[in-house]
Amino acid sequence: MADKTEQDYKTEMLQCLPSVLPHDGKAALSLVHPDIIAKNYCCGLRFPDLLSGLNVLSLGCGCLRDCFVLSKLIGQEGSVVGVDPNDHVISFGRSFLEYHRKACGLSKDNIQFVQCEPDKLVDAGLQKEQFDLVCFNTVFGLTPKKREIMSQLRDVLKPGAEVFFTEMVANTRIRDEVKKDESLWGEGIAGAFFFEDLVTMSREYGFSTPRLVQATDMRVKEPELDKFIGGVKFSMATYRMFKLPQERDDLGAVFVYTNPQRAIDDMNVIELDAGDTIQSGVPVQVDAEMAAILRHSRFSSVFRATSDKATQVLKPCPTDPFAAE
Ligand SMILES: C[S@@+](CC[C@H](N)C(=O)[O-])C[C@H]1O[C@@H](n2cnc3c(N)ncnc32)[C@H](O)[C@@H]1O
Repeated sequence: MADKTEQDYKTEMLQCLPSVLPHDGKAALSLVHPDIIAKNYCCGLRFPDLLSGLNVLSLGCGCLRDCFVLSKLIGQEGSVVGVDPNDHVISFGRSFLEYHRKACGLSKDNIQFVQCEPDKLVDAGLQKEQFDLVCFNTVFGLTPKKREIMSQLRDVLKPGAEVFFTEMVANTRIRDEVKKDESLWGEGIAGAFFFEDLVTMSREYGFSTPRLVQATDMRVKEPELDKFIGGVKFSMATYRMFKLPQERDDLGAVFVYTNPQRAIDDMNVIELDAGDTIQSGVPVQVDAEMAAILRHSRFSSVFRATSDKATQVLKPCPTDPFAAE
């Protein structure tokens, strides 16, 4: 994919999206080389909390900024593998490894760049159950091979691991005539998931329901194009989902967020999705799927089940980015 500027996109520009960063994200961003920052042409940075020590896959790492910020956030105990089909992305990224290692005070590189298609991860040498977290922006939307990518993600993730991703999704299925237009694949219009299909497919591949974290409406700028597409509405939607055991308890439960990092004000509340903010120490009633997430994912280290009476009820899992219209 050649680097794009705002004028090249027929939808509103992707980089206008607000970032979703953990509390230490801004400091990590300040260490990234200016040439990498200048190259950014995509979304805002979007990462979840609790990254220290994780093995992370950055899928479609084109702008490279994600990999370098993640590398600082996970620290020396973790690792980042940046994967992209374009060889110039991979060689550009490798040329900044030494600068980045010194800027972050790392004793050895914790980033590796691998050239491969997102549906060929295991063939390219990534290990089964290698990763705790996969992050990406607009990868499903660039290809019809959505099932193949789901399957590869399932393979390379450890049990309990998270997929945190931002995709252009649509409020209905994209028509076949639109999918035949090559130019509309490059910006994720032709390949946009109907959000309900994303939910169904994710479950088929053994993931929890994709939980909406944040959504920004995207407008098709050209009226003619909007008409050709059929007035479909688009949203850049950030979701999170988890690889959970197939056999699990189907009961809800009450959990308390324990916030082990009490000294950090930003960590007194945690947001698991777009619906709810959870204050540390407050007993929260969660449904069966969220109970499984809090038991089996890395969030088990900051939540504990309790027999206390709940004073907050977590809202049903949000999936529809168009619901607020
Ligand atoms: C929208 S960019 C996101 C880059 C970066 N993660 C960010 O948010 O700034 C998508 C990236 O995925 C890569 N990619 C993934 N799947 C692809 C495919 N099927 N064809 C071409 N490029 C693909 C592109 O090379 C590009 O680097």
